[in-house]
Amino acid sequence: MRVLGIETSCDETGIALYDSEAGLIADLLYSQIDLHQAYGGVVPELASRDHIRKCLPMIDQILKQTNTLPHQISAIAYTEGPGLIGALLVGASVAKSLALAWGIPAVGIHHMEGHLQATQMTETPPEYPFVALLVSGGHTQLMACEEPGTYQLLGESMDDAAGEAFDKVAKMLGLGYPGGPQVAKLALEGDPNRFTFPRPMTTKPGLNFSFSGLKTHTLNTLNRLGPPTAQDRADIARAFEDAVVDTIAIKCARALEQTGFSTLVVAGGVSANTRLRSALASLPLRQSIAINYPALKYCTDNGAMIAIAGLLRQSQWQLHDHAIVARPRWPMTELPGLTT
Ligand code: KG4
Ligand code: ZN
Repeated sequence: MRVLGIETSCDETGIALYDSEAGLIADLLYSQIDLHQAYGGVVPELASRDHIRKCLPMIDQILKQTNTLPHQISAIAYTEGPGLIGALLVGASVAKSLALAWGIPAVGIHHMEGHLQATQMTETPPEYPFVALLVSGGHTQLMACEEPGTYQLLGESMDDAAGEAFDKVAKMLGLGYPGGPQVAKLALEGDPNRFTFPRPMTTKPGLNFSFSGLKTHTLNTLNRLGPPTAQDRADIARAFEDAVVDTIAIKCARALEQTGFSTLVVAGGVSANTRLRSALASLPLRQSIAINYPALKYCTDNGAMIAIAGLLRQSQWQLHDHAIVARPRWPMTELPGLTT
């Protein structure tokens, strides 16, 4: 079976063809970063318009470059949510229209399930049950996954997502958008011993997160310094990154101990962070654990992960459902099981 994946939830148009036997056939990614850069963040209306401009030509291109005819495609998977409503609607409309025209089923995918499924494109995909750490621009969540397609929430951020905090701190430090990779790069020059920032919500039990106080702490530290030197900015980036990474690592250790699971799957844009990966690799745990990440290229948004999730959700392929649905907010725990 061959699935066409369409990702348009935020600022990347991702189109991919994934085959259940052969794996990834092709994927195309168009990033809108240049478009949004001048505004310091994603402008939703501009994002939707750019998806409209890119989506169909990219699908056309992927079919041509792989010599694929519509009747060779088994289904179309698109991101139904969560994300920016206008951006989601573009992907949903394109997917449903093509499914109708080609007489094939379509299936709406949860973006974060897509991120998790990106680990299928690695040599050793994760084994169930596992704890999922979902860390992106919109999510910081810990989930218990006992079997494919079911998610039990263990803890989540009460305010900013980890990626969002990285993006906001990048702005404070005068860096561009998206901020995570740039803060991480600047932190490489920073002195880890100059500042120690708080590790929010780690002294009390529980698996929830909060990054908004840490963000304010970062701003206050910056303001206290007066006009910051290049070294000041690097030291602050390092202290902030260390605090976020440490906090996430502490909560992951707790989640693994609480569930007794011995596999951790990390997905979403922030899973590309090198310091997070090394902190998780040296978690002080009683049992040995396996940690799975998507390949670096597939940590951030892409169409391949949506196509793979489309295969996972084959029991929910809809042949004649022409309603166009987008869910800007969509708790992952509401996803139906795979057999329903
Ligand atoms: O998953 P993603 O591409 O889009 C969402 O679903 O949100 O994640 C994007 C987020 C951004 O906030 C970006 O700053 C962050 O992931 N990010 C990183 C790194 N690479 C991307 N944060 C920290 N370190 C990185 N290396
Ligand atoms: Zn994402």
